[in-house]
Amino acid sequence: MKHFLRLSDHTRDDLQALVESAVGIKSNPASVANELAAKTLLMIFEKPSLRTRLSFEVGMTQMGGNAIFYSVKDSPLGRKESIEDTSKVSSRMVDFMMARLNRHSDLAELAKSASVPVINGMCDIAHPCQILSDLLTLRERWGSLEPGRRVAYVGDSCNNVTYSWIVGGIMMGFEVVVACPDTEETRPEAWILEEAAALSKQYGGSVRVVHDANEGVRDADVVYTDSWMSYHISPDEEQARLQLFLPFQVTADVMSHAKPDAVFMNCLPANRQQEQTAEVIDGPQSIVFDQAENRLHAQKALLVWLNRN
Ligand code: CP
Repeated sequence: MKHFLRLSDHTRDDLQALVESAVGIKSNPASVANELAAKTLLMIFEKPSLRTRLSFEVGMTQMGGNAIFYSVKDSPLGRKESIEDTSKVSSRMVDFMMARLNRHSDLAELAKSASVPVINGMCDIAHPCQILSDLLTLRERWGSLEPGRRVAYVGDSCNNVTYSWIVGGIMMGFEVVVACPDTEETRPEAWILEEAAALSKQYGGSVRVVHDANEGVRDADVVYTDSWMSYHISPDEEQARLQLFLPFQVTADVMSHAKPDAVFMNCLPANRQQEQTAEVIDGPQSIVFDQAENRLHAQKALLVWLNRN
């Protein structure tokens, strides 16, 4: 059974093929209009979502299928009913599952017991669907995804999007530069850097961690940031985090250290006076709404790929 849990479960060729398929589907949606006729996707959410929910639900509808939204707070998952039983029951009724769960271990358990493909809609350590649509967005911008590009990730770097960018960027042969405060809670954990080192040998990309925003974005092709207040951050942590991350806010001055034709990306949701200024996210280098739209096209390509394999 093929699942989509982490990018490193797949190959660079798989990722390239998914991106090229998404380019084709975006330009000719009619080519897959009946691809998933009478098929059903179960979408299990333990955290909030706008883009992930919309893109999967609209994608299924546009391909002739149907999606069911299932909130963990309204379900017996993990409490009255084991993840294993939930997975086995769901597999008897639906054709795919997509889950946004807090813990990757729970997602792995869901996939282990499933007889239908399981997609990671974001967990504590990975957000592979986001990076897939980011790669589609860059492929559109650049015309190809040749190795050698530099992607600077600035801000909170002990999280799912950073980790999937480290993995996905290295798999594409890019240099990923992470610029973050030097604390245990905000820099990438040792295990992901060990995994990155192994992937570097295989794919040729690399990762470097620095603790200065200007140094991080120097000569970058992409400046990427994400919320300082991820879904699990409590309101009483916010003031301390604001102080810690303020030197890593992406401002017009920070952008000026990247290449002149660099693009600005944020997977959204965004706060205009936190991880970047309004001038940057609403400025000419920003491609954040292309990124958001491309969640739809990339998700459709992923569902088609899982359906055909
Ligand atoms: N970027 C992203 O995953 O958005 P949502 O949290 O709205 O799904």
